[in-house]
Amino acid sequence: MRTRIPLDAATVEPLLAAAVAAPSIHNTQPWRFRLDSGHQVLEVHSAPERTLPLTDPAHRAQYLSVGAAVFNIRIAAVHQGLRPEVRLLPDPYDPGLLAAVRLAGPLGADDLPPGPDLHAAIARRHTSRRPFTGRPVPEPIVAGMASAAYACGARLSVPDIVGTRRLLRLTAAAEARNHAHPDRTAETLSWITAPGRGSHYGIPVTALGPPDAGGRMPMRDFTGALPTLRLPAMWFERHVQLALLWTPHDRREDWLRAGQALQYVLLTATAAGLRTSLLHQAMEWPDLRAATALPRHGRCHPQVLLRFGYGPDGARTPRATGHPAARTAAPPATGTGPD
Ligand SMILES: Cc1cc2nc3c(=O)[nH]c(=O)nc-3n(C[C@H](O)[C@H](O)[C@H](O)COP(=O)(O)O)c2cc1C
Repeated sequence: MRTRIPLDAATVEPLLAAAVAAPSIHNTQPWRFRLDSGHQVLEVHSAPERTLPLTDPAHRAQYLSVGAAVFNIRIAAVHQGLRPEVRLLPDPYDPGLLAAVRLAGPLGADDLPPGPDLHAAIARRHTSRRPFTGRPVPEPIVAGMASAAYACGARLSVPDIVGTRRLLRLTAAAEARNHAHPDRTAETLSWITAPGRGSHYGIPVTALGPPDAGGRMPMRDFTGALPTLRLPAMWFERHVQLALLWTPHDRREDWLRAGQALQYVLLTATAAGLRTSLLHQAMEWPDLRAATALPRHGRCHPQVLLRFGYGPDGARTPRATGHPAARTAAPPATGTGPD
């Protein structure tokens, strides 16, 4: 017989707080939650009004973001002693329902996950867009990150020096194309928020990083046509440590798996004292995305590029409440950025 756990506020609030702490492209937070208490299910829906029509027309990055939120729900449930059962895309007649997490009952002794305290890492993880020290990350930590990706059905590959240069070159090419595309730069800039504006969506200017004085690290320039927002250039690490997250297939459920894998990797890295940032630009141009695939790998569908290492923490980026009541709150208009 299945034990029923009451899905009261004390149970659900920590799950939602963990969910919204997930990374999302441009901090769009493209999720909504609905509680089906009768069936002990927390549903995760897409938020179609918080998409990026030019940057992410197929919604792949949106699915990655939602997948990351689902992974945080899993970790927070286990932290409360609950066993989460996740179904991806559970209803073919409701394409906006991306995941259903059933809180099945108390954890058994065998359900307890081994390894580092990922729950504590949820609040500690921030994107760090500043230069890292370049100190090499020990191999066992990198192996732990790769195992995390694998456990979610994705793969994490760390390229050699030649491969790293190739990925940086392709990302720089994407960054240059974005710059030459005024509509894209406008879309990106519309998600950058001024300090004190009290916005719950988008990236505050305080969380942006400088450009690389050496011109080698193609960090995303969010400032577009407003160079006054751009920080003075700084020298980035010479020893760049990158990893490519990829999946063997490229369907909607694979994007949700990749998002969960991404978050498992980021939390594993955070728990080990690493800083991380993401370089997604090459994934936003089909030809460049294809070119980032591992050579001689027929089934490599690149999802996102991670930069990792030791260095300064990233600034905190705000979040909207994940409370199910937020579903009815007025969202920002499509593509016009944060409210
Ligand atoms: C799919 C995806 C793509 C992202 N791409 C980039 C990127 O290209 N450049 C960047 O600086 N941050 C990128 N981010 C990080 C988000 O901007 C960041 O998660 C968001 O602003 C919330 O901030 P936080 O990660 O510090 O919580 C990406 C995040 C996701 C999930």
